[in-house]
Amino acid sequence: MQNDIPTETFTDIGDSLAVARRRSAELEEQIRREPGRFRVLTGDRPTGQLHLGHYFGTLRNRVRLQEAGVETFVLIADYQVLTDRDVAERQSEIVEELLLDYLAIGIDPDRSTVFAHSAIPALNQLLLPFLSLVSVSELQRNPTVKDEIAHSRQSAVSGLMFTYPVHQAADILFCKANLVPVGQDQLPHLEVTRTVARRFGDRYGAVFPVPDALLSEAPLLLGTDGTKMSKSRGNAISLASGADETARLIKGAKTDGERHITYDPLGRPEVSSLVLLAALCEGGDPRAVAAEIGDGGAAALKKRVTEAVNTFMAPLRARRAEYAGDRAYLRKVLHQGNLRATEIAEATLDEVRHAMGTSY
Ligand code: TRP
Repeated sequence: MQNDIPTETFTDIGDSLAVARRRSAELEEQIRREPGRFRVLTGDRPTGQLHLGHYFGTLRNRVRLQEAGVETFVLIADYQVLTDRDVAERQSEIVEELLLDYLAIGIDPDRSTVFAHSAIPALNQLLLPFLSLVSVSELQRNPTVKDEIAHSRQSAVSGLMFTYPVHQAADILFCKANLVPVGQDQLPHLEVTRTVARRFGDRYGAVFPVPDALLSEAPLLLGTDGTKMSKSRGNAISLASGADETARLIKGAKTDGERHITYDPLGRPEVSSLVLLAALCEGGDPRAVAAEIGDGGAAALKKRVTEAVNTFMAPLRARRAEYAGDRAYLRKVLHQGNLRATEIAEATLDEVRHAMGTSY
């Protein structure tokens, strides 16, 4: 029997970026007025420690939404780790570190549900009907998948890698999240989720909302070597690093030959990234920070950044250390998150079975 997958194509990325920006501004306004109307799902792959790039890029935005009164689900995407690694080593340790990072930044387990998708069978079962709603060529065209494949550490593309945008649809739709904070690069993935939700509705009836992307302005923080901040490059200030390590990393950071400090992200990316980091930590304006340092040069800049980061991080580090000593609590947080996610996923799967006529 032929599977009649609709032939509409996913939205053009250029158009969808402008549309998503406008829509996000509207959504922010609605969040301010009626936070209770929204349910957010966000998540990370547990691949290592989170760093300041993550913090200012996405993590603090999650805490902001939680504090605004939006119900928040935080996914630990442990199956997704397997899309680009042959083996996931030290997984449970890495997951614990991630949990510590979450608690340190202010994710509150009483208000946010933190869970691992491998622990939620009913979530994963949604993958099967969802896969029937997308074509292979649509998956082949997905720009994020193409990019992931290009950067993969695997010699061959696994089926899991190939289908991961659809798995992500299950991550989002199992709890009927209607808001997904994303960076620009993740927009095509969310488009897959929206398509799956729409097609499911067309074929079987309304079960899922069509979730919106909430684009966040992620400041571009470079690593201390002037390239993208990433744990594997050894250029990242992680949330777990102490004051001394932070000072050492910043001391070794790349700058340029010009003594006078300015904020010029395009012309002077390394210096400007340091200025921006100080400004973000101080809650100030990067141009003002640069002007204050002026002729003080790289040494004064690094001193300022080190102080700013260490002052800002002190309470986070204290919370992290406190929770690090209580592994039983960490396990309890994840266990309870998994239980709650399971309950919701099972209820959704029941609805799906009902809609598909497969509840026997
Ligand atoms: N793809 C995200 C990452 O690489 C993690 C993730 C998995 C996710 N499923 C998701 C994020 C659903 C948002 C919504 O970090």
